Amino acid sequence: MAITVRNNKFILKTDNTAWILRTEEGYLEHLYYGADVPDCDPDHLVNRQILNFAPYDASLGLKYIYGGRLYVYSGANSGDFRTPACDLTDKNGCRGCRFRYAGYEILSALPSDYVLPHVRGDMETLKILLTDEDKGIDAELYFTPVEDCDVFARCAKIVNRSGGKICLNKAASMQLDFENGNFDAIFIAGAPGDEMRNVRRRITQGKFEISSRFGITGHSANPFFALCEPSATEDAGECYGFNLLYSGNFKSEIESDCHNCVRVAAGISDESFSWTLQDGESFYTPQAVCTFSAEGIGGMSVRFHKLCRKYIVSPKYADFRPIVANTWESFYFTVDEDKVRAFARKAKEIGADTVVLDDGWFRNADNENLGDWELAKDRFPSGLKKLVSAVKDNGLRFGLWFEPEMISRRSKLYQKHPEWLLNNGDTGSESRNQYVLNMGNPEVVDYLYGVLAGYIGEYGIDYIKWDANRYLSEVGDLRLENQGETWHRYVLGVYSLLERLTSRFDVLIEGCAGGGGRFDLGMLYYEPMIWLSDNTDPFNRTEIQFGAATAYPPCTMSYHFSKGDGTTGKPSLPYFRALVADFACFGYELDLTKMSESELAGCRAFTDRRRTLDKYVLSGNFYKLNVDNDYYYACMQVAEDKSSALFTFVQLNAQIRYESVIVKLKGLDPAARYRIGANGQILYGRTLEKAGLKISDLLCPHWKTEDALRISLARGKSGSGISFEIVRTDD
Ligand code: GLA
Repeated sequence: MAITVRNNKFILKTDNTAWILRTEEGYLEHLYYGADVPDCDPDHLVNRQILNFAPYDASLGLKYIYGGRLYVYSGANSGDFRTPACDLTDKNGCRGCRFRYAGYEILSALPSDYVLPHVRGDMETLKILLTDEDKGIDAELYFTPVEDCDVFARCAKIVNRSGGKICLNKAASMQLDFENGNFDAIFIAGAPGDEMRNVRRRITQGKFEISSRFGITGHSANPFFALCEPSATEDAGECYGFNLLYSGNFKSEIESDCHNCVRVAAGISDESFSWTLQDGESFYTPQAVCTFSAEGIGGMSVRFHKLCRKYIVSPKYADFRPIVANTWESFYFTVDEDKVRAFARKAKEIGADTVVLDDGWFRNADNENLGDWELAKDRFPSGLKKLVSAVKDNGLRFGLWFEPEMISRRSKLYQKHPEWLLNNGDTGSESRNQYVLNMGNPEVVDYLYGVLAGYIGEYGIDYIKWDANRYLSEVGDLRLENQGETWHRYVLGVYSLLERLTSRFDVLIEGCAGGGGRFDLGMLYYEPMIWLSDNTDPFNRTEIQFGAATAYPPCTMSYHFSKGDGTTGKPSLPYFRALVADFACFGYELDLTKMSESELAGCRAFTDRRRTLDKYVLSGNFYKLNVDNDYYYACMQVAEDKSSALFTFVQLNAQIRYESVIVKLKGLDPAARYRIGANGQILYGRTLEKAGLKISDLLCPHWKTEDALRISLARGKSGSGISFEIVRTDD
């Protein structure tokens, strides 16, 4: 049983973890979250001494001091000075609330009116009702254990039954208190083209936040973060992971108080948020997911990857990702119908299965026509239908680029509906020569649905590349009484458009926001893969993909093989560029029509090989190996039944001096024997895990066997590497 209620305790379990709550003096308290404690009896943990200066429950006296208790969902301005999960202005204009326990229910699934992205599948869910009786406001807390992933999904619903209008100023998705929080925080930071850097810092007294004010997730921070023991490594130590299924302004706060209690509160950012609730109305928060690993940071990543693959990404894509040939870096705005036809023929030759006509099909430059979505007839005189047929006649799928949320001032749509832009009373700033439509306006969403559904239906579009190439600014909606609702309504509009399209059509949507500016679980619920960065340099991409893999599985990251001097001007060999696709979704983004026969044959070989690796990339468990070195990245992707694995070693900075490189493998069955694809050696899983594999030998120039994968550069230079399968054997 994932959920049991015993005496005054709620015991929630997953395969390896437990979360225990209790009711005490009419309050709901947090008792324990971590490795499973089978006896469920850690009551002795919460027994704090008297805190000077701290308010207490007047009817209970000093035995109930608010600041000394651990809570599950705290109201603001109620005698607990730590960061609240919820803050509101009641019908009398008074600020704050205090929640007390009022009951529970065990549901067979989340309520059916929960329409935000959520962990898929009907799973037993604990609903706990908290109430502020004085104010007539309830908080319903939902806990869903995802047993096989060691994950708990959480969300809250705030209900106004006060008889008047209230304003919600903050409603976090989750709160978690630690009695003795001695942690490092790990989070993802970055910039356009340099996404997904992992940052680690000590939590000390004070408050630290990871947040976005961009209206979308943004490049500079990601909703994922972790708290681990300061001694935790990739392979050992305790680590808690957190993430949000949300794609707008978010805020995760980590606060350590003067008694070393750490409180985590994560959800929609309260900074520019407010939401009016009339009497009888309610508000659902986005879902948060939490995991715990006693096997280090890597153990946390494995759990979050599995959650994403099995319960976030649509099951339609469980075992399929296309191999795309995309026109952007191939032709930019000079793309035309002859080029696409020729490109499609070559795409077929190299084994790609989808041609994506990127930006440029409706405009000549990035300062016009966004919003109109009319084909540029001068460059596509025969029309889209014929072009789509020509591509499909090659046995390929057809993809088309859109940036639905955006609008150019030089567009018919702007002439017709200038009031559809986000507007806070300012004329608005430009970014990439464009403005943002107010997705909170249902008329805008209906218009975009009409456009996109029209293209998909009429032309048989199989695939949409969905860009959002600017952040939101001057955010306001003059139709609304409460302007603080605009940001969240924007996100709800984006989700509703994606929901309508993906539920009606069999169309695969690849996300993108100037690269990885909107890479989050909310978008992955609708888009099985997201363009991770506009930076396709394989040196940088290796780092970006490894950074993202702390939280997200490789099957969600799209990466394309591009020109030799790539986006950074740094030369790289074709094999090396292909190697990086070992841990991402693969595609091509270079002018295939200018490639020689032998170059095309090389690409064909990469495609064929990559197809055989889908089983690892789409459903394998991903492990980073030997993370503490400056020279190379290594990883394993192990089939769920441990029968085989893909090993990849990417040498970014080779050393001239000889160094013996031994990499300890992970994820194999210790008692099974495995054949090493690179040299045919047979070794026990436990030997490979404990003693490791000697990579320097495999990289020697004299190494060559037929078992070897074609992709090995086998020279040990910077920008080289090796990749091979490891297969269980009875020999
Ligand atoms: C963004 C995307 C690119 C490409 C261009 C087109 O930069 O990240 O992949 O689609 O827009 O304008």
